[in-house]
Amino acid sequence: MQEKRTPWYKNAVFYEVSARAYFDSNGDGIGDIKGVTMKLDYIKQLGVDCIWLLPIFPSPLVDDGYDISDYYNIHPDLGSIADFRELIEETHQRGMRIIADLVVNHTSDQCEWFKQAEADENSPYRDYYVWSDSDQRYADARIIFVDTETSNWSWSEKAQKYYWHRFYACQPDLNYDNPAVREEMKNIMRFWLDMGIDGFRADAVPYLIEREGTNCENLPETHAYLKEMRKLIDEEYPDCILLAEANQWPQDLRPYFANGDEFHMAFQFPLMPRIFKALAKSDCSPIIEILNMTPEIPDACQWCTFLRNHDELTLEMVTEEDRQFLWNFYAPVKRMRQNLGIRRRLAPLLDGEPRKIELLNAILFSLPGSPIIYYGDEIGMGDNIYLEDRDGVRTPMQWTDGKNAGFSNAGEDSLYLPVIKSDQFSYTKINVAAQLEDPHSLFHHIRHLLEIRKQNPVWAEGSYEITYNEEYPALLTIKRTDGTNTIVTFHNLSDKTIPIELSMTGFAERKLVDLVQGTDLKESKLELSPYSYLWLIEQ
Ligand code: NOJ
Ligand code: CA
Repeated sequence: MQEKRTPWYKNAVFYEVSARAYFDSNGDGIGDIKGVTMKLDYIKQLGVDCIWLLPIFPSPLVDDGYDISDYYNIHPDLGSIADFRELIEETHQRGMRIIADLVVNHTSDQCEWFKQAEADENSPYRDYYVWSDSDQRYADARIIFVDTETSNWSWSEKAQKYYWHRFYACQPDLNYDNPAVREEMKNIMRFWLDMGIDGFRADAVPYLIEREGTNCENLPETHAYLKEMRKLIDEEYPDCILLAEANQWPQDLRPYFANGDEFHMAFQFPLMPRIFKALAKSDCSPIIEILNMTPEIPDACQWCTFLRNHDELTLEMVTEEDRQFLWNFYAPVKRMRQNLGIRRRLAPLLDGEPRKIELLNAILFSLPGSPIIYYGDEIGMGDNIYLEDRDGVRTPMQWTDGKNAGFSNAGEDSLYLPVIKSDQFSYTKINVAAQLEDPHSLFHHIRHLLEIRKQNPVWAEGSYEITYNEEYPALLTIKRTDGTNTIVTFHNLSDKTIPIELSMTGFAERKLVDLVQGTDLKESKLELSPYSYLWLIEQ
């Protein structure tokens, strides 16, 4: 009998990196691919298994690189294909993997394909995009960037027609009814996979195909194409993965795994805002409710769980009432709000309180799924809400308390974005060098938790059970078990101490070890102080 092997991504720690923001290797004020290569040892030290590199392709950067003008090249600011090959090789040498963004849904309007499509109706690229004489088609499709866009159609002077776009007007949607587009995107996949990357985080996958009378999201035709992408991976690049960015309710998200023949992974979008709600309300029921609403996924699939990323903290997948509550609680200042979300980083959202930051990470690491950490959140970096668009959460990584936070040698005025200087989040206080030195820092805390996670594969494969305690709604108890090992984690989401009676949890027959402290547990009556947590393993 063949031994069952756990696919690598089921128990992997992901780390989201923006090359532009990470480290500037040549002193021009812009982080670059060589800069990421130079920092791989740091990433490895944190306990990362797989890097997700944000878009690195030529782009006018209206949407920070999600507006691609050439799919077969690297943005000159960030380096060359040779630099990228070196990054892949060096990542692999350290036993890590790396995935890139695949922007499937749209290109930049500066892409040669769009320019030719606009200029010449007989160009083979004309049909790469979605055109119309009227801006009234597909009226049921929502607008996503509500702060800036008023329609999903924009007028092209050159073509004398409207073209379709789900995001910024400068991001025309590709036409997936055209077989040439379907082939082109597969060739783009092969181009980068041949270089040695380990897969893709596929951007905006719900929107590939439009049909009249629908909201143009999650259509069967879209799923059919995504399955073709998966087939390519299985047949030509086994062991590589596809990770779905589909910001959808659980019942619409589940189909992206299909029968294990579509995506390997998908971001757990609905869970994320409910972790913040649970903390705000000191009541873990929002977490339990959404997990109860979330269908099981095939064995070989895995959720990718996260607290923050490079976008606004999206509140698209919550009710209107919850959105208002979360806005009022976490974004009391208007400027903090953006589209249907919040333009803030993890640490400022939690008032920079170490206990809360550690607690939320502990919860993330205990729940089912492979966690992803957004660069800088491992040291509790701050944000700058006064920068444009989502730039406030995309500022330079803070390496030291020296010039430009150790990010770049350039003059301050040449930095692609200013470093965070204000108040408690200034780079003079929050930086990698200081945290590496301090054994009690957030960095070491997270590193330690990740290490524990890795040593206990029950987190990857085990089933989970969450208990709600009527008397203490703030107590989130998560039990993970795989038949051989059992881990129970307790998290206190409130500012009050919570007593725990282990005998009442049905979890005290055997020897218990405190995983974080590495000590045997002697007492069966415990107290969980405000915003603290306890991870126990049965031995
Ligand atoms: C999702 C990406 O995360 C976001 O940054 C981007 O603006 C949109 N997709 C459009 O590509
Ligand atoms: Ca540079």
